[in-house]
Formats: sequence, structure tokens, C-alpha cells
Amino acid sequence: MTDPELLRDRALAALTAARARTGVLTSSVDDRELTAQHSPLMSPLVWDLAHIGNQEEQWLLRAVGGQDAIRPEIDSLYDAFEHPRAARPSLPLLAPAEARRYAADVRGRALDVLERTPLRGGPLTDAAFAFGMIAQHEQQHDETMLITHQLRKGPAALTAPEPPPGIEGLPAEVLVPGGPFTMGTSTEPWALDNERPAHHRIVPGFHLDTTPVTCGAYLRFIEDGGYRDERWWEPAGWAMVREHELGAPLFWRREGGEWLRRRFGVTEPVPVNEPVLHVSWYEADAYARWAGRRLPTEAEWEKAARHDPVSGRSRRYPWGDADPTPAHANLGQRHLRPAPAGAYPEGQSPLRIRQLIGDVWEWTSSDFLPYPGFVAFPYREYSEVFFGPGHKVLRGGAFSVDEVACRGTFRNWDLPVRRQIFAGFRTARDAT
Ligand code: AVJ
Ligand code: FE
Repeated sequence: MTDPELLRDRALAALTAARARTGVLTSSVDDRELTAQHSPLMSPLVWDLAHIGNQEEQWLLRAVGGQDAIRPEIDSLYDAFEHPRAARPSLPLLAPAEARRYAADVRGRALDVLERTPLRGGPLTDAAFAFGMIAQHEQQHDETMLITHQLRKGPAALTAPEPPPGIEGLPAEVLVPGGPFTMGTSTEPWALDNERPAHHRIVPGFHLDTTPVTCGAYLRFIEDGGYRDERWWEPAGWAMVREHELGAPLFWRREGGEWLRRRFGVTEPVPVNEPVLHVSWYEADAYARWAGRRLPTEAEWEKAARHDPVSGRSRRYPWGDADPTPAHANLGQRHLRPAPAGAYPEGQSPLRIRQLIGDVWEWTSSDFLPYPGFVAFPYREYSEVFFGPGHKVLRGGAFSVDEVACRGTFRNWDLPVRRQIFAGFRTARDAT
């Protein structure tokens, strides 16, 4: 059990880091761009900003602090289930200056609540859970806002240093031996409901790629006619390819015999050694079939990332139990792209699998389903309403997400058609 006072300090640090990132994402474009809709798939940035404040108000001020609503009339505007994203620009949203003031007001009061709340005595306050949950929520919306930045037209608004180099010459795949392992967690203090509880899984032996699939490898699929060959596609994926005339990842285009991509307002040659990004689950699945392979299951992915063959324990990260540092993984929007394949030797797993955490979210073959013993907490709309065959699980986080919302047990999910998210994949095959 982690010391509650340590968790109080961590909550303060995580909330502060999230707000700094929110500040960058919402101050790097002007008010017109903050209120505009850059894609029907996304909210205006100013909606995310006030929604962040509103979630924080509901959980930290009202649920934990016992306070009354500051502006009860705005709750419904910022309820993600009441208004689809495409309809949000026409709502009477708080204007940018007002949204900033509201979020800052809530934050000031939330820090007072954090300072005086005993961190034991209930599931929301034990281990500062609600504070950790709200820091994760803000970082998740910071990732959502980064997607909006990627979709917006016009010159670059964000910059960041280049990630560290990759390495060539790694074995393409390794064998993960069969046997049981512990999946999920009952001890990680800020794990969300869908990561719980810890339970045993038997995972037969399989081979897994040591790095995510690169743009260069994906280009071979394109050039081999992968997008024109029905054999590789699930029927719904093939229908999507035909309807939208897909032939490459989102943001790629071919010009004068060269493949280019647009990344945060800059057009550049497709980097062949970098993990491929902006492919849907259907494209990842088709590539794997073309390559004579398959996507890993979610349990395979987690075993590769957490199982320590020496101790037999499941650890928090591929490298052990220590929190991520910049030497372990490409996280937190520190770089605005994945690092080349084979980067981050310090972050490798005991079997020397690299880049499981950070760089690109990895599609798995699994539907998003509850673990045995799942209990929705603290609200059904975080996970439970999304369980079912419609959503596929993504694992491992990406450059776009902060470490507070990424760990060996963390589960993300999305529709199999989604391409704007920072998703790539790696492939697997049976060991038989
Ligand atoms: C877990 C990333 C799928 O963005 O829809 C944000 C996170 N939930 N606000 C999403 C979330 C509520 C969620 N994902
Ligand atoms: Fe949200």
C-alpha cells in the first residue's frame, strides 16, 4: 500500500502537469480556432476545456468536497452523452475567457479540497483515487485536443524536440513462452475500473514483433496492392475501403512518386523507420493477414508487457515497477511523433520487446469486455457502457498521452474504423 501522503503529493503534481499541458493546447491557437470545429469527429477545443473543469467540479468539489454546483446550468452542455461531438459547436458554450476562468476557479477550490481531505475512509478518497482519476481525465482530453490539433488545417501551432533514435538489427520477433500470468490489477492505486481485478489467464506460447510495424513495412503492403485485395479484409473493413476509397493511412498522400504525410501542420516525407500511425483496426488487421500473421490478443499484449519470467510476477511496466522516465518511453507529448523502431532500450521487456509503452497506441484483436469480477466505479459511463463487440482494445499508450493515463494494465478502446487517433500496431503468430 502506498503512503497516502505520498499520493497527495502525486495528485497535486499530476493535476498541475495536466493543467500545464491543457494550457499549451488551448493557448497555441486564437479564440476563433478555439471555438471552431476542425472536424465533425471532434469537439471545439473550448468544449474540452470547460468539460475538463466541469468533470473536476463534479467529482472533486461536489462528490468529494460536498460543495454545491458553481453553475448548475452548464452541466448538461458538457455532458458527453447528451450532445454528440458534431452538435457541440452550436451549443451556448462558455466563451474562451469564461471557460478559462471557470476551469481555474474549479482548480483553486479542488486544491483546497485535496489539502484538507483525509485520504482514507471511502473509495473516492482512499489513495487519492478521485484526484488521480481527474488528472487522468484531463490528460485524456489533452490527448483528444492533440488529435484536434492534428486535424486542424493551417500552419503549425505546436513544436517539440525530436525523439531519440531507433536501432536496426533487432530480431524481428521473439517467442513468449506459454503459461499462466496475472492480468489486470487489484493494487495499482489509480487503476480505473476496467483494469480491475487482477486475475489469472493461461496464454499459450506465441511470437510477438519486437517493435511496432513501421511505415516502411506498411508501404510494402500498400505497394503489394493490399488496399485492392479483398482477401486481407474483414467484410466491414473492405466496405470501408471501398466507400471511402482508402489507399494509405490517414494524413498520407502520394505526390510525384513520393509518399508524404501531414503532421501538426507540416508536410514531410513518410519516415520509413517510424511506427505507422493513423491506421484503423481494419487496416491493422488486414496488414497482419497479408503478412501471414495476426494482431495479438489483449492478454498476449499484457503478458508480453508485464510478465517477468524470472519471478513469475506481473510488473507495472515492461522494465519493472519504477515509474516511467524519459529514458523508458515516449510519453506526455514531449515529442510530437513516435520514435523510430527499436528506440528506448531502457524500456524493453525481459524478452527484449521494445516500445510497448509509449510511441503509438497498439490495436489488439480483442473486443473491449469486462474482466471477471468487474465492478463499475465510480460511474458506469466511464467503461461499462462501452463494453461489447463494437469497440476494440488498444494498449500501451502513445507519445500523445501522459504517463498518469498509461501503464501496463491500462486499457483504451475505440471503434474499429477510427483513424484519427494515435494508433499503430504490432503483429503476432501462434507458437505451434
Ligand atoms: C478512454 C480515451 C476512450 O476519450 O472517450 C474522457 C476517455 N472518458 N472522458 C474517451 C474519457 C471520459 C475515453 N477513452
Ligand atoms: Fe471526458
